[in-house]
Amino acid sequence: MTQPTILAVVGTRPEAIKMAPVIHRLRRDPHVRAVVCATAQHRQMLDQVFANFEIKADIDLDLMRANQNLTSLTANVLTRVGEVLAEVKPACVLVHGDTTTAMAASIAAFYANVDIGHVEAGLRTGDLLQPWPEEFNRRVVDLVGTHYFAPTRQAQHNLVAEGVPGPSILVTGNTVIDALLMTLDHTRRHGGVAASLHARYPFLQGEERVVLVTGHRRENHEHGLASLCRALKRIATDAGVRVVYPVHPNPNVQRIASSVLADVDNVHLIAPLDYPEFVWLMRRSAIILTDSGGIQEEAPSLGKPVLVLRDVTERPEALEAGTVTLVGTNEDRIVGECTRLLTDAAYYRDRSTRKNPFGDGRASERIVSFLRERYAPGQRSPSVSVPALS
Ligand code: UD1
Ligand code: UDP
Repeated sequence: MTQPTILAVVGTRPEAIKMAPVIHRLRRDPHVRAVVCATAQHRQMLDQVFANFEIKADIDLDLMRANQNLTSLTANVLTRVGEVLAEVKPACVLVHGDTTTAMAASIAAFYANVDIGHVEAGLRTGDLLQPWPEEFNRRVVDLVGTHYFAPTRQAQHNLVAEGVPGPSILVTGNTVIDALLMTLDHTRRHGGVAASLHARYPFLQGEERVVLVTGHRRENHEHGLASLCRALKRIATDAGVRVVYPVHPNPNVQRIASSVLADVDNVHLIAPLDYPEFVWLMRRSAIILTDSGGIQEEAPSLGKPVLVLRDVTERPEALEAGTVTLVGTNEDRIVGECTRLLTDAAYYRDRSTRKNPFGDGRASERIVSFLRERYAPGQRSPSVSVPALS
């Protein structure tokens, strides 16, 4: 019997990180055939993650263009993934999250009448413009999906409220926790990450507290990012603090960050880091300021408080658990919250010892078990079945 083909379509850094554990597990499963299609919506950052997780794409569409716009990117992903589907004839296409790659690939699969599995399904802010265009993208995927791998009960609830049939939803936890645990384990066994970072960034060996920053969202370009950068300049006037900002390669982000922060004392604008290095740097940091989704999910596992540079969140679980604080992009608010965490030890302790609500590191097992049982029935795993997420 030929095995059913599961086609994983991946385009950007966060999709690659969060799909890496699923891809590894699919490739190890003898009952399915895994094919990985990289749209390369991101080029360098996707290559970086694939190298970190030792993944090679079977098909690489090489679609990234400098300063690409959403219309041409969407059109290219739709057309080219449509061609891949005609060639590969998968039983199911797996997409992740809310990127243009996920949205356009799921439309292509819908047109080709192929099943769609949505990993990290059901996140919602309820505001189509925040984050933009991701809230639109994730709703499109969920409109045409077949299987919904919801990371949390809240995400499941959102899907049910929109009319998605209950049996097509599986609550799995977020695969980013699987990726994080895999990476921590690999670093523990192989080492080398600290030495490499210390050699490139000697200031990390000092006593200063690190405020780690990432900011790249399209809706924050121009005003939001400029305001964040002015806040960072003020935070860095404290001699006991180092602000470290691995800057996203989007030219609109690079331009603003360097125009406000180049040559500012105690501020270090650095290139995007390999995933194991970034995980190490999160652990080395005191506080993380970010508008990233994945970092909000990872940081609580490392005991780091997160200030979220957004006005609304699709991750209310983090607010409830107290692992993140929404600060938006108002300069005074960012400085105020950051200063409070840096100066009020009891407050800091409270915000850094909360339980991570995003999973137990077994999400990819649950997803692959589900796919095997759905597409290769009777081919149960010899291992014990995966317990439901509590
Ligand atoms: C995309 C996702 C966003 C995700 C982010 C993660 C969409 C609509 N947005 O946003 O949800 O949070 O990725 O980082 O899918 N570039 C490079 N090299 C790279 C990557 C990007 O040079 O490896 C530059 C290119 O000039 C590219 C630009 O960044 O055109 C924008 O990339 P794009 O994927 O369109 O948008 P992001 O802002 O990265
Ligand atoms: N990350 C990384 N190197 C960096 C910055 C971030 O590996 O220099 C990781 C981070 O740990 C998280 C993911 O990239 O897992 C977040 O990606 P990004 O911010 O690009 O996307 P988002 O999460 O906002 O969609």
